[in-house]
Amino acid sequence: MNLFLIFLCDFLIVAVCKPNVLFLIVDDLRPNFKFYGYENAVAPNLDNLAKKSFVFKSAFCQQALCAPSRNSLLTGRRPDSLHLYDFYSYWRNNVGNFTTIPQLFKENGYITHSIGKVFHPGISSNFSDDMPYSWSNKPFHPKTEAFKDAKVCINPDGSLGRNLLCPVRISDQPEETLPDLESLSAALDFLEYRSNSSELLPYFLAVGFHKPHIPFKFPVKYLNLHPISKVKLPANHWRSYSLPPVAWNPWLDIRKRDDVMKLNVSFPFGRIPDFFMKRIIQYYDASVTYIDDLIGEILRKIEGTNTIVVVTSDHG
Ligand SMILES: *[C@@H]1O[C@H](CO)[C@@H](O)[C@H](O)[C@H]1NC(C)=O
Ligand SMILES: *[C@@H]1O[C@H](CO)[C@@H](O)[C@H](O)[C@H]1NC(C)=O
Ligand SMILES: *[C@@H]1O[C@H](CO)[C@@H](O)[C@H](O)[C@H]1NC(C)=O
Ligand SMILES: *[C@@H]1O[C@H](CO)[C@@H](O)[C@H](O)[C@H]1NC(C)=O
Repeated sequence: MNLFLIFLCDFLIVAVCKPNVLFLIVDDLRPNFKFYGYENAVAPNLDNLAKKSFVFKSAFCQQALCAPSRNSLLTGRRPDSLHLYDFYSYWRNNVGNFTTIPQLFKENGYITHSIGKVFHPGISSNFSDDMPYSWSNKPFHPKTEAFKDAKVCINPDGSLGRNLLCPVRISDQPEETLPDLESLSAALDFLEYRSNSSELLPYFLAVGFHKPHIPFKFPVKYLNLHPISKVKLPANHWRSYSLPPVAWNPWLDIRKRDDVMKLNVSFPFGRIPDFFMKRIIQYYDASVTYIDDLIGEILRKIEGTNTIVVVTSDHG
């Protein structure tokens, strides 16, 4: 049977046999997995995928910021070739009309589709996720991402806050869902449609998950898999005395969260208390388990199909 298919592919209907591509990009994902030596990871689906995949162990982040990192990866050019280092420039207007990875697939007979955060939204992808060049149809964005910074996190006293640590019950959330669950559902619908479709074009499906980017808003059940007693503080979490102030990031994005403000950490050099630092790590790890679960659902959907799977991130 295999030989027969190879024969068909080589000599008769090449288009039919082009593999699909599933490109998963996970926002702010560190290499916190058992296969990278992080023992506290709970990510059975990615562990499994890693066993049958090529795992890059010397891969480095080009730029520790979403937009330039994504534009670099998706155009196949280093940030210092693109000269784009921030959120405010679109390469086609500012540097050159460079072809993107999805565009290359599209121009070679693929259906290309974007779900969630693939390009960084906004100016850096011309407010269109680089439509029409990169994608065959309108990119999908989860509606509930609009509640990204809404007061939907339950405080210990039952009131609602805009917290960094934000485990939730889905039934209490606006529209009773979360952005990544909406993206999962859009991805499963796309794959279902492709598997039913009589059209034979292969696809390039990019799915960009929003977690584990802050705030750590995820279904509360994932915390059970990450007891605080197992969390270890980083070996070195002090500011070096000789560090020039310009090199210090005072994490403004975290400070403005209600639960962090309650800690009264002095600006700009105050330290987050150890108990809270441990909880940040615990909640990050739980967010990764949440995304692993969603990736598992997508991988089960494509089981037995001829699909190349790529899992990556912008930075961690
Ligand atoms: C940029 O590239 C796209 C796709 O190849 C092409 O359609 C478009 O005309 C180009 N734009 C310019 C200004 O060259
Ligand atoms: C960027 O978007 C604007 C406004 O929609 C559009 O006029 C312009 O052609 C787009 N740029 C490119 C390179 O397609
Ligand atoms: C795909 O086919 C299945 C079984 O025939 C059907 O239940 C389902 O509704 C179809 N889905 C789509 C998106 O057409
Ligand atoms: C933070 O400051 C407020 C007001 O000064 C005080 O009521 C609160 O107890 C402080 N919290 C901590 C954790 O020190």
